[in-house]
Amino acid sequence: MAATTIQTPAPIRGVRITPMASQRSSCPHNAPRLRPATCKSPFDPSRHLAYNAMPSRHTMSEIGYENTGVSQIAVSEPFELFTPEAVRTMRNEVLSDEVWDNCRFASSIAACQLRGMAPKYAKFVYDAWMNPETLRIISGVAGVELVPVMEYEIGHINISVNDDPDGKTQAAPVVGWHKDSYPFVCVLMLSDATEMKGGETALRTGSGDIMKVRGPQMGSAVVLQGKYIDHIALPSTNARERITMVTSFRPKDPMITDDSHLVTVRPISDLNEMYNQWTDYRVEIAQERCHNLIKKLRENKRVGRDFDVIGVKDKLSDLIKLLTKTRDEIVDPAEYKIEDIEEEREQEKESQRTKKRARLS
Ligand SMILES: [Fe+2]
Repeated sequence: MAATTIQTPAPIRGVRITPMASQRSSCPHNAPRLRPATCKSPFDPSRHLAYNAMPSRHTMSEIGYENTGVSQIAVSEPFELFTPEAVRTMRNEVLSDEVWDNCRFASSIAACQLRGMAPKYAKFVYDAWMNPETLRIISGVAGVELVPVMEYEIGHINISVNDDPDGKTQAAPVVGWHKDSYPFVCVLMLSDATEMKGGETALRTGSGDIMKVRGPQMGSAVVLQGKYIDHIALPSTNARERITMVTSFRPKDPMITDDSHLVTVRPISDLNEMYNQWTDYRVEIAQERCHNLIKKLRENKRVGRDFDVIGVKDKLSDLIKLLTKTRDEIVDPAEYKIEDIEEEREQEKESQRTKKRARLS
């Protein structure tokens, strides 16, 4: 039988998809799970982290994207991150009935994704990604201090199941060529990939060449500055399933530019929840920038420095840009059309081309 990705109902933008009983009976939700080896204990970094050495990394300039992004690091090779016990616990949480019933989305770019399960339905997953030791590791690999973009992005699950019992036929890519909405992602493998062939992450370099990064093994991860690099997870064979957890990150420092947007995630999210978290974190960044500006103004006045006309106007312009972007990304679902997604993607591509031309000129 031909390999397929999950068959889901037609895409419903911004609306949860609740599968009917007949759909659930044949869905990969029933794919092999790793029960009963459930770990009941809470996330413990000394027990559940498997990180042991800094992986090889490729820089932005190496792949033709110098002076782009929030870090000099473009992508890492796979590195061990979580222990098998941690992965089993994560799988049990993210493949639970509650998550399947409440967090499943489809879109034009991916057939089946599970999103927004943490912390409500996936406490261990939430604690694992929020743990300071985990964040220290991810930040070290990424070359910039990072935090999860928002709770809603803790644990975006991509699922592809091969109908061929031997897994010999090729599973289609879960998601096509794209750039992410947020600066960094960490892609964690939740399936046994020991025998898996293919499944690499392919990147389009600044010169248009294709570069491949090996796919991770179970419990291992790859860190990628996916907002700025066109990429795709290549098809895999020899595996019954391919389940990955993608967690998105932004710089912790509120003074670093955060040019996140919601283009690729808006159609596959509970907008009520996501807009709330989006506005919350963006306004908090604005608040911290305002606080820094006030501190600087008062300090300058105290020591008798002249008012910095250009510097202050620049900071105010940045603040306006940040808040304008925050506002503009909140699109009323009633007014949101599928063509808008394509148009926004085209605009994003054109803006990247313009920046590239500017760099080369
Ligand atoms: Fe991606």
